[in-house]
Amino acid sequence: MNLTATSVKPSTSVSFPPRVQFSRLRPSTLKCSMEVGGLDSDGREFKSADEMWADQVGDSNKKTDWYRRGVGYWEGVEASVDGVLGGFGHVNEADVSASEAFIKTLLSELFPSDARDSQRQLVALDCGSGIGRVTKNLLIRYFNEVDLLEPVSHFLEAARESLTPGYHDKHQATNFFCMPLQEFTPEKGRYDVIWVQWCIGHLTDDDFVSFFMRAKAGLKPGGFFVLKENTARTGFVLDNEDRSITRSDLYFKELFSRCGLHLYKSKDQRGFPEELFAVKMYALTTDVPKKVHRTRSKVHANIPRIIK
Ligand SMILES: C[S@@+](CC[C@H](N)C(=O)[O-])C[C@H]1O[C@@H](n2cnc3c(N)ncnc32)[C@H](O)[C@@H]1O
Repeated sequence: MNLTATSVKPSTSVSFPPRVQFSRLRPSTLKCSMEVGGLDSDGREFKSADEMWADQVGDSNKKTDWYRRGVGYWEGVEASVDGVLGGFGHVNEADVSASEAFIKTLLSELFPSDARDSQRQLVALDCGSGIGRVTKNLLIRYFNEVDLLEPVSHFLEAARESLTPGYHDKHQATNFFCMPLQEFTPEKGRYDVIWVQWCIGHLTDDDFVSFFMRAKAGLKPGGFFVLKENTARTGFVLDNEDRSITRSDLYFKELFSRCGLHLYKSKDQRGFPEELFAVKMYALTTDVPKKVHRTRSKVHANIPRIIK
């Protein structure tokens, strides 16, 4: 197994995610990110994302095949932490603790307790939940209810079996939806947070945009999305094996803008092995984020002022 940045074809055991990064992608220069080229896992170069998408999902048969192979890949993977982390089960702890720091900050800034109705029941959706790793280690501790969405039935069943009533003394996993994101429409206004981690690479750009547009209606007023994903240095990297793409930060930002979403905050994941793709967490809101204003006294604390 070659874990260096110059390896082009990842081995099956380290496929997704976190994933070994590829090197020597085209420089982005000043082009819009979708015009920037990318590579696939066999070293084939694409001049643009449009060229790659036309090649991969250019007609309805190809598109069906893309999604069939994506889910088919995961159907052959063991229902374990190591399985859903592509052989990198040991990064689970670092992943969870960075996510926890991020969600704590977001909850305190976006749902401050003085503004929060104490009766408010926080509800989250865990998208592409796999075996429920993110729900069990994180979401169930912060949200009264968590729903899980996952297209691979043996993963979802493993999640359901472990998240039985009583898993948490006060909170519960409520709904287990066995379907892919591109076919899912959430119940209107149900969720405070929709968490999307390490699965959006399976969606084409058009399905990415239409998923988030539909999912906006599933948020409560003031609710938000968290997207946590591998990022390519530039352009994109296509994995031929599981039919997923790793997008660059710029590529993601262009898609957020197509979705009409606002980037409230982003944070880099730290503490992962260097040979892996960089991982970013994005908090996205449907409304323009309000600036957190510091109080007048703090702003002027260091300048001379008249004593009243
Ligand atoms: C790398 S695993 C991550 C699982 C989980 N999010 C975690 O972090 O532990 C990728 C997950 O995406 C799911 N997936 C694949 N295609 C999907 C799709 N079209 N819609 C939603 N999830 C999908 C897979 O079945 C798998 O559970």
